[in-house]
Amino acid sequence: MRVLVIHGPNLNLLGERQPEIYGTATLAEIDAFVVALARELKIEVDCVQFNGEGEIIGAIHDARRRYDGIVINPGAFAHYSYAIADAISSVSIPVVEAHLSNIAAREAHRRVSVTAAACAGSVSGFGRDSYALALRAIAILAEK
Ligand code: DQA
Repeated sequence: MRVLVIHGPNLNLLGERQPEIYGTATLAEIDAFVVALARELKIEVDCVQFNGEGEIIGAIHDARRRYDGIVINPGAFAHYSYAIADAISSVSIPVVEAHLSNIAAREAHRRVSVTAAACAGSVSGFGRDSYALALRAIAILAEK
């Protein structure tokens, strides 16, 4: 089983970006944590990060034949990118959304995720564990 983890814009700055909201772990540390869990679950995982909407859409398209599922943190695109939502709807592999912060408890513009609506489900508010829970969700969906 192969899963692609896609991190969206500004997540490359994790560790220095608003640590009071997103924590002090760097993206490399979060990826290492995800890779370690994936190994335990016997899942092959690749992690990528893009700041551009088109690159994220391209990665979703390319993943449809190479991976069995996608974990995606679309960053701020979650709140307004119908193009990424459409890309998620266009692939048949399961996609689970993950957010470090609890977007339901933040500013009004962050409380809606148009991309989560296109996903199998979403996890929000558990820091790096949101990615772990999303990966486990993909594994559960694959067993069904
Ligand atoms: C985020 C939440 C988004 O609102 C924000 O724009 C991000 C990070 C999160 O992981 O909590 O870039 O996706």
